[in-house]
Amino acid sequence: MNNNFDVIIIGSGPGGYVCAIRSAQLGFKTACVESRKTLGGACLNVGCIPSKSLLHSSELYHKAQKEFNNLGIETTNIKLNLSKMMNNKKKSVQILTKGIEFLFKKNKITHLKGKGLISSKNTVTVIDNSNKKTSYTTKNIVIATGSEPTSLPGIIIDEKIIVSSTGALSFDKVPKELIVIGGGYIGLELSSVWKRLGANVMVIEFLDHIIPGMDKNISTEFLKILNKQGINFKLESKVTRVSVVKNKAVVDFTNKKSLRRERIECDKVLIAVGRKSNIGEDVTKLDIKLDNQKKIQVNEKFETSIKNIYAIGDVIDKGPMLAHKAEDEGIAVAEIIAGQAGHVNYNVIPAVIYTSPEVAMVGKTEEQLKKENIKYNVGKFPFLANSRAKINNETEGFVKIISDEKTDKVLGVSMISAVAGTMIAELALAMEFGASAEDIARTCHAHPTHSEAVKEAAMAVDKRPIHF
Ligand code: NAI
Repeated sequence: MNNNFDVIIIGSGPGGYVCAIRSAQLGFKTACVESRKTLGGACLNVGCIPSKSLLHSSELYHKAQKEFNNLGIETTNIKLNLSKMMNNKKKSVQILTKGIEFLFKKNKITHLKGKGLISSKNTVTVIDNSNKKTSYTTKNIVIATGSEPTSLPGIIIDEKIIVSSTGALSFDKVPKELIVIGGGYIGLELSSVWKRLGANVMVIEFLDHIIPGMDKNISTEFLKILNKQGINFKLESKVTRVSVVKNKAVVDFTNKKSLRRERIECDKVLIAVGRKSNIGEDVTKLDIKLDNQKKIQVNEKFETSIKNIYAIGDVIDKGPMLAHKAEDEGIAVAEIIAGQAGHVNYNVIPAVIYTSPEVAMVGKTEEQLKKENIKYNVGKFPFLANSRAKINNETEGFVKIISDEKTDKVLGVSMISAVAGTMIAELALAMEFGASAEDIARTCHAHPTHSEAVKEAAMAVDKRPIHF
């Protein structure tokens, strides 16, 4: 094999593999280095994909148990076969990771197996399983090494009793008592999975609200919904210690307001307090500049402090740690290397929590706009007044559209709905096109669909919703 490339990408997660494909499409001789056995990074192997598989299966199990009867679907003896559910998850992961292998072959991308290290500005060394080192030269390097779960000081994740999301996606039996530390994306998605499958779940959150960064109305309503589903919360609580005693975990935490201390014993503890960027020793050695959160600093062209070395995805100091953000950066950086005008609009990155109902947002929250002193109007529409949601017994949640007071340009949208994750795309598109709330209000939406609530919320900005 010729060891010279135009672009070598380190990491094959959603940022890296998409960047590899786009680079190859643009005519670059491209290689992608991956240390995992399979392509796809954390997202496909231990993140987005397996979690969505379990969220889907557990939701169906829950519905079959609790809701089918009301619909006239009589079932008896519904039983959980967890190992089969896990096998189904594995199959989904396998199909999708193999799919990337296929796309690499189709696009003539060289898949370099092993750990990739940048040994100089134009050299990447790959260390394979047998510790064999091979060096490759390249005109451009893209760091797309992603992130890994963080823990709390003094708490060691053993992936058996004290687990990260990786361990919580592979329990071999349903824990009786599960404590989840952190009420963010991972904490709430995995709480939902294990609650539906029969665990008693308690979430301990440091702040006085869940899903920080999302609109406060959404976070308050979502907390009520999750409470109703039987998930317990301890807010404003600081975990001081987690220890393992005789195969059980003991969690100590203190309420920040009352200073009351509590100790709870449980079978498993999930630590879901955020992720940290994967910065290799090569990056430190080359003195590539990092910010104070240890993320790689890049400019608007995704260049690091070394010109032909680029970085994208969870390792950089831009945007949220989300797979689709990384994908867009992967495309943009390949186009920039090709001299084109690759670009990512960080104001319009949708975010979705795939619980039931789902939570989604794009653009700014009301709290952000207040802070920035921007005057706005708000239109809200509840799913209680949406016919399709009523038919489907999915009346929880609402759509909230915020538009500029003067221009009516949409500044942000947040929603809770059974299909919020799918519906948010319409709003992202509207924002990319600079739409006003009135533009959405005057767009015909199919009936009966959940998305009529979007149109109604847009009409509510001008105080003229029809069905509420
Ligand atoms: P997160 O940042 O979403 O939430 C972490 C939560 O832990 C926050 O609510 C925070 O206040 C709380 N916390 C921090 N320290 C704590 C302490 N000592 N005690 C109690 N609570 C504490 O992080 P998460 O859920 O781990 O997710 C990591 C990343 O993965 C996020 O950036 C997210 O964007 C991404 N992700 C996205 C998903 C999606 O798009 N659906 C799904 C899963 C992860």
